[in-house]
Amino acid sequence: MTKNWTPTSWRGKPIKQVPYYPDAQAVSDVEARLRTYPPLVFAGEARKLKKQLAAVSKGESFLLQGGDCAESFAEHGADNIRDFFRVFLQMAVVLTFGASKPIVKVGRIAGQFAKPRSSDTETKNGIELPIYRGDIINGTEFTEQARIPDPARQEMAYRQSAATLNLLRAFAQGGYANLENVNQWMLGFVADSPQGERYGSLARRISDTMDFMRAVGITSETNAQLRETDFYTSHEALLLGYEEALTRVDSTSGDWYGTSGHMIWIGDRTRQADHAHVEYCRGIKNPLGLKCGPTLEADDLIRLIDLLNPANEPGRLTLINRFGHDKVGDHLPKLIRAVQKEGRNVVWSCDPMHGNTITANGYKTRPFDRILKEVESFFAVHHAEGTYPGGIHIEMTGNNVTECTGGARAISAEDLSDRYHTHCDPRLNADQALELAFLVAELLKKERDSHPQKLAVNA
Ligand code: PEP
Ligand code: CO
Repeated sequence: MTKNWTPTSWRGKPIKQVPYYPDAQAVSDVEARLRTYPPLVFAGEARKLKKQLAAVSKGESFLLQGGDCAESFAEHGADNIRDFFRVFLQMAVVLTFGASKPIVKVGRIAGQFAKPRSSDTETKNGIELPIYRGDIINGTEFTEQARIPDPARQEMAYRQSAATLNLLRAFAQGGYANLENVNQWMLGFVADSPQGERYGSLARRISDTMDFMRAVGITSETNAQLRETDFYTSHEALLLGYEEALTRVDSTSGDWYGTSGHMIWIGDRTRQADHAHVEYCRGIKNPLGLKCGPTLEADDLIRLIDLLNPANEPGRLTLINRFGHDKVGDHLPKLIRAVQKEGRNVVWSCDPMHGNTITANGYKTRPFDRILKEVESFFAVHHAEGTYPGGIHIEMTGNNVTECTGGARAISAEDLSDRYHTHCDPRLNADQALELAFLVAELLKKERDSHPQKLAVNA
């Protein structure tokens, strides 16, 4: 058991990014009810994910983590979840081919509702209101009513997470993810794009292989690996009252687990070593993510690793790098060197989204070429340092949105207004997500070809 830690010990620490709830009693009432609800995920699943991430840290697997910037109550529906899941599966297939390694699949989904913001308020036409902080806290509409934090939303978020997770489990285990469906995962609007064609030819190769395997007696009916996939959930552990209420003791190990999702991460704005978010996360046994932005110094990173992974367990900690396409070369090498010098086991993952946000035509957007550039630089730095680029972390959707500029179908700044639907940050659409997967697959293949013998680099 972690020293001097309880699920509530974060309450004694300074904290950033807290919403102001006018009715404190109503918040306590909701938290008390949440404490009685069933867990959303099980400790055994979180442990299994940790094992898979340990394999990533040794260079034996690759992590694909992605989903909405912020999930929304209004857009909760089976079609959205299915469309996200199928693009995610397509990406995973493309990456498997490139890496020739298992892909660890972690969605930003079924709990990704709370958003850190750079400002507490938003002003429009001379009216100042509290900023939107995610559907678990307040509403997007620019009215006082919507923007006042409402604790009842936490129960809504819990129930939506449960329903989403239920469908995802059915998709992952109930036949939808069967590799024999590899041709059917194509979305209508992607099918006739360059990425669609590329994916189509890959899917045909897989189908041919499946036919061959069927002929020799290996079928999806007899082989669960072809029929099912492991899919995990993750979100930023930002709203700590909610996280605390879902923190439970695992009866088999006696350890504390966060049961709101399999993996949770600490955001770039709330990673102060002596603050509440780090305090909460250090005591639960789930695999953790830590966002590492340009302001993170190497000695602070080591201090955070000491707190979050004192036993140096592989798979416990994923460092999610989000520097910006032009800053990776300045920041990443010194972090890698510090981690290597201290012999720490981590997964290095690249979030090429959050350091590349700009405003164009009045919209928050991300140029696709900068996203690609950040991923390429991430791989190049790891190659130079002799460490393993273990994963990517992206904001994406299965919908045909126009939120990030560029890509093979060249979305321009003028196109952004066509289908700009995100509740927070701009996401890759299905086409762009697939294009990114093909690029990463090529980088992984190059990496594999140039270091055929190198496996346990971070061990
Ligand atoms: C996010 O992942 O949506 C986010 C806010 O990231 P960061 O903490 O890296 O800014
Ligand atoms: Co975001």
